[in-house]
Amino acid sequence: MKFDFTTVPERKGKDAIAVDIPVLNGFDINETVKPGFDLIPMWVADMNFVVPACITDTVSERLEHPSFGYYLIRDEYYDSIQRWHEERHGISDITKETIGYENGLLGGLVSSLKVLLPEGGKVLLHSPTYIGFTHVLKDNGYKIVSSELVKDQDGTWRMDLSDMEKKIKDGKIKVAVFCSPHNPTGRVWSREELEQAAELFERYSVTVISDEIWSDLILFGNRHIPFASVSKYAHNNTVELYAPSKTFNLAGLIGSYHVIYNPKLRNKIETYEKATSYNSMNVLSMYALIGAYSEEGAEWVDDLIHVLEENVDLALNALKKVPGIAVERPQGTYMLFLDCKEFCEKNELTLDELLKKGMEVGVLWQDGRPFGGTYTIRMNLASPTHRIHEALKRLGKHVWGLPESIWEPLTSMWEAFNPWNMFLKKAEDSDKD
Ligand SMILES: Cc1ncc(COP(=O)(O)O)c(C=O)c1O
Repeated sequence: MKFDFTTVPERKGKDAIAVDIPVLNGFDINETVKPGFDLIPMWVADMNFVVPACITDTVSERLEHPSFGYYLIRDEYYDSIQRWHEERHGISDITKETIGYENGLLGGLVSSLKVLLPEGGKVLLHSPTYIGFTHVLKDNGYKIVSSELVKDQDGTWRMDLSDMEKKIKDGKIKVAVFCSPHNPTGRVWSREELEQAAELFERYSVTVISDEIWSDLILFGNRHIPFASVSKYAHNNTVELYAPSKTFNLAGLIGSYHVIYNPKLRNKIETYEKATSYNSMNVLSMYALIGAYSEEGAEWVDDLIHVLEENVDLALNALKKVPGIAVERPQGTYMLFLDCKEFCEKNELTLDELLKKGMEVGVLWQDGRPFGGTYTIRMNLASPTHRIHEALKRLGKHVWGLPESIWEPLTSMWEAFNPWNMFLKKAEDSDKD
């Protein structure tokens, strides 16, 4: 592996919400975590990896020029976005005009809604739901109409098209917020599923705001298909929202963008955004995107995906051994969405008690109830593999009450995966040659 995915960045005291937040899941972190356990952040959707040098070098180079007056957006910014989507997702019709800066993906979502719907209007959303959607919709006076995703017989989360249709029809719904890949379930929608959804939206003239912030983190050979690419209707009636922030851990720099093909729709949204005067890019975030969407950035993401796949497999192998925990293998993102209902009932635990037990041994996992379900936990796996292994071992011993011996196969699996051991083995093998 060319890049460093094993160093654990010391984030404490460095303004990271992941470890510096005082209260999580309703528990004071300082009071809850027992002595002897360091913190393993496994909640908010950011990563515990250092960013690649292509980002820091590009930003540092700009810092060498110590002048930060009003600036123009460089063509390189637009070119980088176009090239990225062409190379990563096979999309070649993005032009400079179709791209527009968004001050955070949720900022873009709210601006689009303000243009598309009067306050009090109804918005179709899938549930489970990313909590950011729930907050911004409620805080801006919109009504959420949820259509539940359902698990099929293989345990795969699916859209319920007939339920969606009923809700759109009954509620006269004209706007849907679509999450692709889906947070928190990790579903990467297939072309067929997207086409079916697009047909349904077309039948009822629904405009789609498609949040594709996770589109670069696609696992196990799945493929992301941008919603606007699945039909002519979708092309003309979708606001696609993207960012390098999930892919490269740049949320603190802010820098999302939209792709809107329909000039009328685009013009309305951009006019609204211009009028607010709130939607301007930071010059350093422009350089961060240019550095990220580069050849080296692409190589880094390819390696990152392998690490995330290892972490998912490691976690699922462990979780399979815990009676009463149900979890699906995500096809994208770095999140696991655990259903702990049976476990809690068997062990006479409330979800709060279970969350607290994990936190006591330093595992900062996240209450999943605000996303959906009554006994759910969201677990972020974007950390060096040895940290995920450590978290699973602590949970096994102190929370799930499993005997140490049950972790043996897992430990040997980790030994095989451990990048340091792999490096030593490679060196040993090349000595033999
Ligand atoms: C689906 C989804 N959309 C949006 C966001 C937040 O994006 P931003 O910080 O750019 O508003 C997140 C963050 O986790 C997310 O998971």
